[in-house]
Amino acid sequence: MAKLKPSKGAPYARILGVGGYRPTRVVPNEVILEKIDSSDEWIRSRSGIETRHWANAEETVAAMSIEASGKAIADAGISAEQIGGVIVSTVSHFKQTPAVATEIADKLGTNKAAAFDISAGCAGFGYGLTLAKGMIVEGSAEYVLVIGVERLSDLTDLEDRATAFLFGDGAGAVVVGPSQEPRIGPTVWGSEGDKSETIKQTLAWNEYDSSTDKFPAITQEGQAVFRWAVFEMAKVAQQALDAAGITPDELDVFIPHQANERIIDSMVKTLKLPEHVKVARDVRTTGNTSAASIPLAMERLLATGEAKSGDTALVIGFGAGLVYAATVVTLP
Ligand SMILES: CC(C)(COP(=O)(O)OP(=O)(O)OC[C@H]1O[C@@H](n2cnc3c(N)ncnc32)[C@H](O)[C@@H]1OP(=O)(O)O)[C@@H](O)C(=O)NCCC(=O)NCCS
Repeated sequence: MAKLKPSKGAPYARILGVGGYRPTRVVPNEVILEKIDSSDEWIRSRSGIETRHWANAEETVAAMSIEASGKAIADAGISAEQIGGVIVSTVSHFKQTPAVATEIADKLGTNKAAAFDISAGCAGFGYGLTLAKGMIVEGSAEYVLVIGVERLSDLTDLEDRATAFLFGDGAGAVVVGPSQEPRIGPTVWGSEGDKSETIKQTLAWNEYDSSTDKFPAITQEGQAVFRWAVFEMAKVAQQALDAAGITPDELDVFIPHQANERIIDSMVKTLKLPEHVKVARDVRTTGNTSAASIPLAMERLLATGEAKSGDTALVIGFGAGLVYAATVVTLP
């Protein structure tokens, strides 16, 4: 049997830079109320959402990703040519093939970086981060760009009371690179495909008939998802803390998926997070942007000074699949 050379990577990986892009159009609850019987007060009290951003025709999945990535690359202090991998997590890029990641890698000016898309719903950022860390430690890339991007407004049925107010558009990106110390903890992740019907696209693309059907949209069983998130995801978050060897007292920041402020409040309570832990509440003005929500919330906490470089943050994403991913990271 021939002997193969072992691959040589960095001892550990870390997030080196973060960037976000929010579409220019801000959509208040009043606009949502044009199509559903609800109220601003109901939406705010049940979800925490006050406004969200909707992309225009020019703010494509690729365009928003390039904007967010440019900022993340500048924040990391590297050049695009140094990036060896581009991972794009999205459920709202409408072309099945080729992956949008290849277009982004090219337009950013990477040197033929490996590029691919993943579909892991609202856990997509954590899935991407875990893959990036593996690539760096394994040695197949020195720097990897992880992008979470969505145009969920394209997949929202504005007449559906259960979802019309929830979703938003945007892109968040991080640059992951080598580290001499562990700065991304072990990932606790998984899937529960027996619950795949609780969040889904109404019709598969090959089932959709434009002469009779409403355009496919994301639909969900709100209460079932809410209960699952509240009861099961706090346990996963705790497992990620344990796996990293961190107590809630040692945590500076909590960045859960921005799905619903009541889910966030409930997790904070169950995890018994101390007062000093800064909690991301970007959902209020960004809505649920699925794979983009965690990097967007991270970027905002750092930009506003609520969190700072070097802070220890617990991140957890969860959603359609159902899938989840949680880990503890050091903020860039
Ligand atoms: C969507 C969500 C906010 C709805 O809140 P809820 O408290 O579960 O609402 P319910 O569906 O139980 O409905 C409660 C009542 O509000 C009403 N209602 C539902 N949607 C409404 C709306 N948009 N406006 C006003 N009233 C509404 C219902 O008719 C019901 O009225 P009733 O009590 O008279 O029967 C909530 O279920 C949720 O956030 N779920 C998780 C969503 C999520 O995070 N998904 C993505 C995960 S990645």
